[in-house]
Amino acid sequence: MRKVFVTALCMCALIATAQNNSADSKMDRFINDLMKNMTIEEKIGQLNLPSSGDITTGQAQSSNVSDKIRQGIVGGLFNIKGVEKIREVQRIAVEESRLGIPLLFGMDVIHGYETAFPIPLGLSASWNMEAIEQAARIAATEASADGICWTFSPMVDISRDPRWGRVSEGNGEDPFLGGEIAKAMVRGYQGTGTEKYKANNSIMACVKHYALYGAGEAGRDYNTVDMSRIRMYNEYLYPYKAAIEAGVGSVMASFNEVDGVPATANKWLMTDVLRDQWGFNGFVVTDYTGILEMVDHGIGDLQTVSGRSLKAGIDMDMVSEGFLSTLKKSLDEGLVSQKDIDQGCRRILEAKYQLGLFADPYKYCDVNRAKKEIYSDEHRAAARKIASESFVLLKNEANTLPLKKKGTIAVVGPLGNTASNMPGTWSVAVDLTKPATLVEGLKSVAGKDVDVLYAKGSNLTEDAALEARATLFGRELNRDNSTDDQLRKEALAIAAKADVIVAALGESSEFSGESSSRTTLGIPDVQQLLLKELVKTGKPVVLVLFTGRPLTLTWEQANVPAILNVWFGGTEAAYAIGDVLFGDVNPSGKLTMTFPQNVGQIPLYYNHKNTGRPLKEGAWFEKFRSNYLDVTNDALYPFGYGLSYTNFTYSDLKLNTTELTKDGEIIARVTVSNTGKVDGAEVVQLYIRDLVGSVTRPVRELKGFEKVMIKAGESKTVHFKITPELLKFYNYDLDYVNEPGEFEVMIGGNSRDVQKTKFILK
Ligand code: NOJ
Repeated sequence: MRKVFVTALCMCALIATAQNNSADSKMDRFINDLMKNMTIEEKIGQLNLPSSGDITTGQAQSSNVSDKIRQGIVGGLFNIKGVEKIREVQRIAVEESRLGIPLLFGMDVIHGYETAFPIPLGLSASWNMEAIEQAARIAATEASADGICWTFSPMVDISRDPRWGRVSEGNGEDPFLGGEIAKAMVRGYQGTGTEKYKANNSIMACVKHYALYGAGEAGRDYNTVDMSRIRMYNEYLYPYKAAIEAGVGSVMASFNEVDGVPATANKWLMTDVLRDQWGFNGFVVTDYTGILEMVDHGIGDLQTVSGRSLKAGIDMDMVSEGFLSTLKKSLDEGLVSQKDIDQGCRRILEAKYQLGLFADPYKYCDVNRAKKEIYSDEHRAAARKIASESFVLLKNEANTLPLKKKGTIAVVGPLGNTASNMPGTWSVAVDLTKPATLVEGLKSVAGKDVDVLYAKGSNLTEDAALEARATLFGRELNRDNSTDDQLRKEALAIAAKADVIVAALGESSEFSGESSSRTTLGIPDVQQLLLKELVKTGKPVVLVLFTGRPLTLTWEQANVPAILNVWFGGTEAAYAIGDVLFGDVNPSGKLTMTFPQNVGQIPLYYNHKNTGRPLKEGAWFEKFRSNYLDVTNDALYPFGYGLSYTNFTYSDLKLNTTELTKDGEIIARVTVSNTGKVDGAEVVQLYIRDLVGSVTRPVRELKGFEKVMIKAGESKTVHFKITPELLKFYNYDLDYVNEPGEFEVMIGGNSRDVQKTKFILK
């Protein structure tokens, strides 16, 4: 019986491969024929990606774009919004250029389109892969209804330095979780199997920023990266590879250097690893002006760096026009070959073919879809639900939360009454007038028996110039010119009338994101002062924390009764915050980045090495140990941490065997009990430590997780399968191996508080 099944499976695989091969050869024939007719200028033109200027995501702007399209020297366009506009531009390409090759239309659709989901760091905190896939699916549906066929997402850069503003755009510090999220997003955008790119609501994804962009020195954007290969392979490269394995169609090169060569010109990265080791066969695009910037990196003039990029394996030049302006000359001078140019051109044409643009250049230009499918009630409802799952309850002393739906609530703080800051950074397609403000959201969820009062209480920061830098792109906070004292007095006056104070504080949307690094990570000055005054009133204070990154919250943790971290939750955030504050939804988010006690501890991450002089667990200072004089080594909130309105206890961690053979498996199981009064979801996390290795190994690594809903008073048994494959790592020679010996298994509700047991790999 089993054999028949296996044979049937093989047959299916054979048929599928045969179909793929025949589809490929059909595509090859089509592209061969097309390329025979292309001039060298037209081939180079396919490698050119200008920006349209509707949306600003970089400094340089492209010029004379429609003329260039007519000349056949544009391969794709990005940052143009609106299906009618895109249809018209596509018409110019198809009807007015010599060969009528359709264009790719790209955009940064990184956490939703007009319906925005939480910023990616928030989304990752949901630990809900179905929800993340659904968010990507909805984003693809809306973007494609508006003419977009290519998104510059997912961003999967591992980040351990919260000073870097772009931690908001990624999935935090863990490779394994980052890999799972990368796969979920690629599936959501592109569709899978035979459905990939089939429907007109499946678009091409672009994993970015390859590679190591999250590891810039000092958390400063675009800064130098220097890293050992063993760390790259074991930690940083994993999520990019996961996206490749999930079939991502394109890859974006990062701005930073890797081993002294900018990623954009790094052949080892772009060809040896990406294509030869990982088998990637899609196309690689640079980041915005990535080629031109290598002149400033100091590795040559525009012609040199353009040639080096092409030879390294870059196929498409975003905005620099280095390919367009120099490759022909480089070909004549023998610096690049016809083969190099043909290869890039072929990969771009293949992407267009696979998306179905040659069959129908207007596949994504159905002008009737936009009205029905964008910002629909259904999408907004999904976004609200997912947002509520992304919030992380950091503290809840004496059950301050949930709030009752009666009485008077004073909402205080610069983030309490802003629509445009709700969606979060890099939500470029959102209509910023549409999101509800927090006050509006709370009123709507609370109903008629609650009085919601509001006072701003403070500006974002005392420093007006800093506030201006942190409120760009229409994400206004309408700076109030009253004195700080006046603003605080107004807030205290409404606080005096209230039963509970909701302090809406933290960062503005553009305080994080691209080019928004910080050297201090507290809630900004005047907001801190305001919070201190509010706490002094003795009334219950709930800090609703808006942030795009981990902040240092030691004072808040010690003094504020309840803290709900809401990131930037997307267009429906205000309602979702209401859902959680009033207990209609029990919070279940868990941090995917460590929150340090202070900036001096950075980088602080849970999966660090032990060192030869580790501090004993739970200890503070010991002379001649690896620690600080002034603060413990502990995180304020560790990776995986997050509370609920109920309590979960872990018991009975058991393995079905303590010996794992090379082709065997171990089942680890644990009982999780909801000992509180309300139903809740818990993210059960499996960590493993390889106790002895040929190279040093992390003190723990996430190797599995499951989000389970458990009713009040009930228990569930959660199982994890541990296989030898799961224990593999890259050794000193960069071979991917597992090594026999002892392993520790840890299961718990965060990376710190775990049950432990051990097994041996034979
Ligand atoms: C620069 C950013 O680094 C990248 O993430 C983005 O996709 C491009 N600009 C295009 O807007």
